[in-house]
Amino acid sequence: MKWTIHTNDSVLNEQHDYLAAGVWHQPVVSGFSKEMDDQMKGGLTDLIKEGDVETKLKQVTVLPTMGALAAKRVLFTGLGKEADLTFEDLRESFGALGKTLKKKKVSTLAIALDSFKGKDFDATDVAQAFIEGITLAMYEFEGYKKKSNVPDVPLDEVKIYTQGDAQEIEAALEVGLALAEGTNEARTLVNMPSNLLTSVKMAEYAIEMAKRHDFEIEVLGKEEIEEMGMGALLAVNQGSEIPPRMIVMKHQATDKWEDVLALVGKGITFDTGGYSIKPKDGIVGMKADMGGAAAVLGAMEIIGRLKPEQNVMAVIAATDNMISHKAFKPDDVITSMSGKTIEVLNTDAEGRLVLADAVTYAKQHGADYLVDVATLTGGVIVALGLDKTGALTNNEALFEKVLEASVEAGEFIWQLPYTEGDRKRVRNSPVADLNNSPGRDGHALFAGAFIGEFTGGTPWVHLDIAGTATTKSAHLLGPAGGTGAMARTLALLSEQFVLERTEK
Ligand code: BES
Ligand code: ZN
Ligand code: ZN
Repeated sequence: MKWTIHTNDSVLNEQHDYLAAGVWHQPVVSGFSKEMDDQMKGGLTDLIKEGDVETKLKQVTVLPTMGALAAKRVLFTGLGKEADLTFEDLRESFGALGKTLKKKKVSTLAIALDSFKGKDFDATDVAQAFIEGITLAMYEFEGYKKKSNVPDVPLDEVKIYTQGDAQEIEAALEVGLALAEGTNEARTLVNMPSNLLTSVKMAEYAIEMAKRHDFEIEVLGKEEIEEMGMGALLAVNQGSEIPPRMIVMKHQATDKWEDVLALVGKGITFDTGGYSIKPKDGIVGMKADMGGAAAVLGAMEIIGRLKPEQNVMAVIAATDNMISHKAFKPDDVITSMSGKTIEVLNTDAEGRLVLADAVTYAKQHGADYLVDVATLTGGVIVALGLDKTGALTNNEALFEKVLEASVEAGEFIWQLPYTEGDRKRVRNSPVADLNNSPGRDGHALFAGAFIGEFTGGTPWVHLDIAGTATTKSAHLLGPAGGTGAMARTLALLSEQFVLERTEK
């Protein structure tokens, strides 16, 4: 999609097939709506009064102007009351606009950007929300049908009319586009089936990304993983025909490799449950068990484009969790890279196993902060539902940063308790240092607490996205399927680090 920014021209005097404008829910039209109303000789006021133009939040009206304005059609986007509008609302309003653009197959759009400016948002905020909202909303997974799911008429030109600073707006558009396209990349990875997105393919994808963004990359194959003693990742991979991969990518922003934020992702390309096999209803959809890896890769795509002044390392443990005569079994005792032994009580609690080795690797390679993201437990869905990511932490200050980033991204996170009781439960084994499944009561907490055993005091936040990585129904910012949850939060987290440093 290409855009042009017009700071001197009046949008109302030019001909456009589609013109997007924001409209407030207020007793008397004002601002840009007033200008339009004047040109229409009070026509807009009448249309609003009659309910033909909707002013309620996130409602879009397509209005043919029949010669009353230079533009052929106006896409009115309802913004509700100015005092109530949040950034999240604004982004979702643009989501609603994006859905309309897709439905109407709009290829060229003009937007009166300043008509969306509110008391809390200037033109640059609006520009970011606009590109982010429409790009997320218009996303479609291509699929594998003879005819692609992606519409044949994409939006390929946007003309932005504003009195704002062109350079600042350009920068805000780049940010919004990077955030949305990184998220969309994550969605695509989640939507791909595991026969096509294997651990090996995921590593190839990462290598391509690293080339694009000049990241340092290292992909560990099975032999290296064996040499390093990653017994937990190897155990999960044991039943598979496809070798495991440990994918490590670095965005180095300073001369020294210090103050490193490590993003650690669960990349189970398919989770059968292993010998603790999943029931037939629970197994469908387990191609999405690499949602954590997708979030990390999506975040790295954003980071690669925006290049924050923050050292970031991505570590992804990738394998499927299969059954065969070679597969690991309940009662097995395995030795993780850290040297800690683990009694396997449930082969379906595999995510925490691969993450144990990924976290250990990250620590050994200079991680000063750890954030792991994983579709880890059905328990988090029972606790928080399908629209909230569960979090655990050993460091409140780091959690605060993650929380701030999540608020900025519009992604809901809720902190769960991490207590001595939970730690005791994961340490309770007669034969090993740890067990991987202490019971079903509070198992979202035990799963997180298990990973905590490998953090060794490094500030750490765990994000369980089992509920949020996918969605069954379409929403204002995208279709059903992979959501790309946490890609934007993780990317914005790296910006939070920079912010904090500059504020010091
Ligand atoms: N991949 C699943 C968690 C999951 C469940 C993700 C539903 C997405 C949707 C994970 O590996 C798993 O199987 N967890 C078990 C843990 C149990 C064995 C302690 C679970 O949640 O039931
Ligand atoms: Zn599992
Ligand atoms: Zn799993």
